[in-house]
Amino acid sequence: MQNYPQYSSKQKWIHWLTLVLIVFVFLLVTFKVTLSPYLGGMVNVYLLHKSFGVLILGITFWRLVVIKRQGVPDVLPKHHKLQRILSKSIQGVIYLLLMIVPLSGYLMSSRSLNVFGIISIPAIDMPNEAYQAFHQTHTVSAYFLAVLLIVHIAGALFHYFWIKDKVLQSMLSRN
Ligand code: HEM
Ligand code: HEM
Repeated sequence: MQNYPQYSSKQKWIHWLTLVLIVFVFLLVTFKVTLSPYLGGMVNVYLLHKSFGVLILGITFWRLVVIKRQGVPDVLPKHHKLQRILSKSIQGVIYLLLMIVPLSGYLMSSRSLNVFGIISIPAIDMPNEAYQAFHQTHTVSAYFLAVLLIVHIAGALFHYFWIKDKVLQSMLSRN
């Protein structure tokens, strides 16, 4: 056991798994034209994008349940008020976006949502303008999430290389 506060191993698994899934979901839409000839015959790029997006939403709900049960360790220095406020606000908005982005992805379509070819969730009937508004929400909130993640990662690296404390290790090391 290390002598600094740490996230539980379940929280670490969820955190790093979400990173892998988010990168994958972004790569799928960013390189859809390049990927399509390779995946085209077998799987649909958007089916994968949507299915893994729904998986991220599910994992985020589970993550909130885990936090409610286990709490979060206090890893930031107590006297750095601004750092604490910035870090917690960014994490809070990341959580909101991890729900808004996939939900708006679902709501922007008039066709039923096929999850991994296994589950079919019927679409909600709305006027065209509403679909368009959710489409816009999906795009804007996804890019906002990307920006916040860059700031979040920069913050973690700043702690590791500059302040040289144990914030990064609280999410990394084996218990
Ligand atoms: C956390 C999960 C998700 C992320 C980060 C994400 C991110 C993105 C991004 C960055 C784009 C490209 C936007 C553009 O430049 O036009 C996109 C497009 C799209 N997303 Fe998602 N998405 C997620 C989940 C979902 C879900 C759950 C669905 C559907 C159920 C979905 C459906 C779509 C569709 C249909 C497009 C294409 C829109 C177009 O062609 O303009 N996404 N998504
Ligand atoms: C290289 C990528 C990443 C690094 C180095 C990193 C690092 C960290 C560290 C060190 C913490 C603990 C800091 C604290 O409690 O103040 C943390 C917490 C957190 N990170 Fe990341 N992170 C990365 C990617 C991501 C991604 C992709 C997401 C979301 C999609 C994310 C969302 C969160 C959230 C919500 C927390 C709050 C703790 C929790 O509820 O699990 N991080 N991250």
